[in-house]
Amino acid sequence: MENQEIAEEINKIKEEKNAIIISHFYTRREVQDVSDFVADSLSLCKAALNSKAEIIVFAGVHFMAESASIISPEKLVLLPVPDAVCPMADMVTVESLRCLKEKNPDAAVVCYVNSSAAVKAESDICCTSANAINVVNSIENQEIIFIPDKNLGRFVSLHTTKKIHFWPGFCHVHDSISDENIHKLKKMHPDVEFLAHPECRPEVLSLADNILSTSGIINEAGKSSSKEFIIGTETEIVQNLKRKYPDKKFYPASEKVLCYNMKKITLESILNSLQNMEYELHIPGYIRMKAKKALDRMLEISGN
Ligand code: 13P
Ligand code: SF4
Repeated sequence: MENQEIAEEINKIKEEKNAIIISHFYTRREVQDVSDFVADSLSLCKAALNSKAEIIVFAGVHFMAESASIISPEKLVLLPVPDAVCPMADMVTVESLRCLKEKNPDAAVVCYVNSSAAVKAESDICCTSANAINVVNSIENQEIIFIPDKNLGRFVSLHTTKKIHFWPGFCHVHDSISDENIHKLKKMHPDVEFLAHPECRPEVLSLADNILSTSGIINEAGKSSSKEFIIGTETEIVQNLKRKYPDKKFYPASEKVLCYNMKKITLESILNSLQNMEYELHIPGYIRMKAKKALDRMLEISGN
């Protein structure tokens, strides 16, 4: 079937079954085109919570669909490709986190949403790249265990007086951006504004004009008076920005910044998901309940 035909079939089934498709900014263009809502991880959490649909097809990676399912237990949340995962989410386990908690009994655990439900259940509160600083500063404890992204943790530590215990996790996509490349691009384009996602390395972030979540980067590119930008995040954002602001120039921080897990979601997999109600997330009740507390606490802070 051609893409157009698949998209028509998707739209028909969506209506029949009272389903919506929500997708992350890093998914393929044709996937974003059939989606009801395209956003960053925080807004997608809120969209899932506030939607009236009975079924949500989540075009994104596993932890995102899992989070949507946890906060909206009355809805059926489907992940079209079960092995679309975020490798960073697997860099922290419940056992290793418990060990660090025992060593630091006064510390609160702030858990980036890029984590499993079981790890969220062991945490006090979740955060996304859009609200991490506010979340950390909202906590009474003076000590924080920040999991799993060391780069986001370091970035947050520059905006708080709290003592932060870092975790050695990272996103292989953002961590692949080098400071050498940014120096080269800045030399080639002296008036450029560099917008970076906080999952980038500290030496890269130190060269950024603004450090923002993916939706923050898109908003800043629109309102800034700059005409040229280096984009320090996933390549799909560069394509989105070129379409959205054709009078401005966007350069990828590196050609390799591609999240292949997000690209596993195709139109065919979405159609299959809607036809066969696949793949449902299975989260044990006691984990769901505790993980929901950590996510709800985050949503209270960032307003839902
Ligand atoms: P956002 O919170 O900016 O959507 O980022 C999620 C993510 O996985 C970035 O790699
Ligand atoms: Fe995970 Fe990195 Fe992909 Fe985001 S870009 S989903 S952090 S692998």
